Amino acid sequence: MAILITGGAGYIGSHTSVELLERGEELVLLDNFSNSDQRALDNIKKITGKDFQFYEGNMIDRELLERIFSENQIEAVIDFAAYKAVGESVQKPVEYYINNVSTVLVLLDTMKKFNVKSIVFSSSATVYGDPEVVPITEDTKTGNTTNPYGTSKLMVEQILKDLYHSDNEWNIAILRYFNPVGAHESGLIGEEPKGIPANLMPYIARVADGTLKELSVFGNDYNTPDGTGVRDYIHVVDLAIGHLKALDKLRKDKQGMHIYNLGTGVGYSVLDMVKAFEKANHVRIPYKIAPRRAGDIATCYSDPTKAKVELGFEAKRTLEDMCKDSWNFQKQLK
Ligand code: WQD
Repeated sequence: MAILITGGAGYIGSHTSVELLERGEELVLLDNFSNSDQRALDNIKKITGKDFQFYEGNMIDRELLERIFSENQIEAVIDFAAYKAVGESVQKPVEYYINNVSTVLVLLDTMKKFNVKSIVFSSSATVYGDPEVVPITEDTKTGNTTNPYGTSKLMVEQILKDLYHSDNEWNIAILRYFNPVGAHESGLIGEEPKGIPANLMPYIARVADGTLKELSVFGNDYNTPDGTGVRDYIHVVDLAIGHLKALDKLRKDKQGMHIYNLGTGVGYSVLDMVKAFEKANHVRIPYKIAPRRAGDIATCYSDPTKAKVELGFEAKRTLEDMCKDSWNFQKQLK
């Protein structure tokens, strides 16, 4: 039986595929290369020495999905395929709802047709909107999202809850990521967004290697210790391992509906990240203070207790690991 990884060539998808292959899982990957490319697939094979089935295409393509489920014995799906830039989603809401919501409806309909009812869904801390209280637990109120990206993730969470309510044979794990950063220790896979990076860490890495001139810090007048945005950064390999733990729980429980925060429980500001990156890698990151970015909030970090208690998951990698691994990947891109 195989695990279908949608968005398998992407940042989180490729790191999760490596961890799954290394523990002997059989994988089928699907990707349309909208924010990734063939090199990621080649490097997954290089890192693991393992092979897997790959289909190029978009989840909106029902025929393609039906071919994948017909040609492979799919046990469960891990659904990563989505656009994920907060700022971009404010500019392109329709594209985000088509790509992040309509595609999942086609996926779930196809899963139902082939009686595959186990899914791990890649959600996001943005479903909490601007949290009234931090740290954020899974019981923290969701909604009042501040951008279409977060709203698209909230919509899919509601779809999954409705689906489970209609048929509780479904086996669903919703994982709310905080801020994934870093790269595999090999430096062969990592975060390589097309065009100018929207996210902080890949932008810092490109300032470090001279591709970009300086970092714009989006606002230093937030109600935070140094005025810049505070986030819960989690190493992408820890995040990948969180998916393996969620898959194990689905296999054990056979049915259910579970929601977990995947974070470290520690918040760092933008300037904390700049200083940590400079210290870890002995580089300089020139920056300027710029206006706030639409859709941004001041502070967001998790209470990771539930994942620890129910999944036995705990992030292990440090901020220094995140900065060193990001830089190690960036240097190999040159
Ligand atoms: C982090 C902080 C910015 C860029 C989003 C999604 C989340 C996840 C990660 C999917 C903020 C500041 C950033 C820059 C800056 N997506 N910043 N200059 O918006 O917290 O989270 O991406 O996995 O689900 O919501 O991440 O990295 O864009 O921003 O000052 O050039 O860095 O204002 O405070 P964000 P980010």
